[in-house]
Amino acid sequence: MDLAQNYNYKIVKQFAVATVVWGIIGMLVGVIIAAQLAWPALNLDIPWLTYGRLRPLHTNAVIFAFGICGLFATSYYVVQRTCQVRLFSDKLAAFTFWGWQAVILSAVVTLPLGLTRGKEYAELEWPITLLIAVVWIAYAVVFFGTILTRKVKHIYVANWFFAAFILAVTILHVVNGASMPATLFKSYSAYAGVQDAMIQWWYGHNAVGFILTAGYLGMVYYFIPKQAERPVYSYRLSIVHFWALIFTYMWAGPHHLHYTALPDWTQSLGMVFSLILLAPSWGGMINGIMTLSGAWHKLRTDPILKFMIVSLSFYGIATFEGPMMSIKTVNALSHYTDWSIAHVHGGALGWVGFITMGSIYYLLPRMAGSQKMYSTKLIDLHFWVATIGIVLYIAAMWIAGVMQGLMWRAVNPDGTLTYTFVEGVKATYPYYVVRFTGGLLYLTGMCVMGYNTWMTLRNRETAVARIPALTSGHA
Ligand code: HEM
Ligand code: HEM
Repeated sequence: MDLAQNYNYKIVKQFAVATVVWGIIGMLVGVIIAAQLAWPALNLDIPWLTYGRLRPLHTNAVIFAFGICGLFATSYYVVQRTCQVRLFSDKLAAFTFWGWQAVILSAVVTLPLGLTRGKEYAELEWPITLLIAVVWIAYAVVFFGTILTRKVKHIYVANWFFAAFILAVTILHVVNGASMPATLFKSYSAYAGVQDAMIQWWYGHNAVGFILTAGYLGMVYYFIPKQAERPVYSYRLSIVHFWALIFTYMWAGPHHLHYTALPDWTQSLGMVFSLILLAPSWGGMINGIMTLSGAWHKLRTDPILKFMIVSLSFYGIATFEGPMMSIKTVNALSHYTDWSIAHVHGGALGWVGFITMGSIYYLLPRMAGSQKMYSTKLIDLHFWVATIGIVLYIAAMWIAGVMQGLMWRAVNPDGTLTYTFVEGVKATYPYYVVRFTGGLLYLTGMCVMGYNTWMTLRNRETAVARIPALTSGHA
């Protein structure tokens, strides 16, 4: 058989399975740290099990292992199908898989050992940072090489979002990663003081904008129309909100540094751009949800569509809440509190988690040459368990966050603080238990997905899908 006539499904399947496995592990670590916040003795006095070391392990595992493996799997699938051509290079693609797993395993070893650059979401020490850059460049070559060799004239909009994600991450990673090595496992940032903070949060916020948003919008624009069997509601809107989104995100970073040593005008600029960001964000959400026009009845019976549409609702919530939190006076209440954690996990569990799960449920059976997962009932079970989990998680953290903010700022008539800090911690305890329960439910759902994946792929060869004869449109 002429291999050049087929899509490379092997790499898609590898990344899809890795997404499920790392999802379970990353969320398990999330549940452990959630438990430690409620019952601190659970660190068992072992240094590498302490909260400060496991927390970055959780964020790295869910974003860079679960999240980015999902983006690799879906972008490799979508770029091949919509360009009607096999991936540009099988060898480089395989390198991205094994190279990325090496990055993740290095994180799993070094973070619990306490080796860190101390920059949130960019913790990994310089040798690993270099490896990430090499793998990422290989990814860019495979992705853009495939676009350049496409058989279809038009570049479908999902690829625009994946392309923006790949390009922006390259720039962010290189600039924020710049550092001076002191030893093999210790380096110092190339920037100092407030510039360092600004670069870090320019990176941090654009990690939200380009990894946790643009990449997943790429999934929205391919998998929702496919699953709903409807065209994108407005192709024109998809292009307009694409350019508006990528332009605006770049300027919003300073909202992470309100009331700090950052110049005041920079903070206000960040706030204004964050408020503007509501428009392109909701443009994407509305376009995705309206794609279901005429197919709403499918939500009754199709749990994969439920994942996708509920995901967009959480995207809408997080991108309404974010601009509100960027208003300085609101941020004065929300910053440092669990309100931020509610915002993060509304976005992470609801938006990022659900669109990834929906898309992977669409992909996996096709990798095994079938149209359906092993059990649709289990997908439905996963959906409901996880949805209840999210609601418990974010409702608990919203209440806890506002309560903490109000308690910390309460003053008596003589100007002294009404509450000591420890009173705030004590009042938060029940909410930590509720959040732990919500997280446990979400993790349970992910384990159900693991079982369903295993049963779907068990004893199945990777499917071979032939590239269709030249036609226009996306496949
Ligand atoms: C219009 C879009 C958004 C805006 C304007 C926005 C704004 C904000 C603001 C103001 C904060 C609090 C900063 C602080 O007080 O420290 C924040 C935190 C955060 N947001 Fe958003 N947000 C948006 C969408 C999202 C989405 C969709 C996600 C996806 C998961 C997300 C993930 C995060 C994360 C991870 C943090 C915590 C950063 C940290 O301190 O470690 N945001 N965001
Ligand atoms: C079972 C599911 C999960 C549980 C129980 C969980 C739990 C936690 C906990 C306890 C924290 C620390 C909060 C704090 O320091 O007060 C945290 C932080 C964080 N988690 Fe999760 N998590 C889960 C899933 C996820 C997923 C799927 C993502 C991303 C896709 C994610 C992204 C983050 C981020 C970005 C932070 C840092 C937030 C910040 O610094 O403001 N989590 N998580």
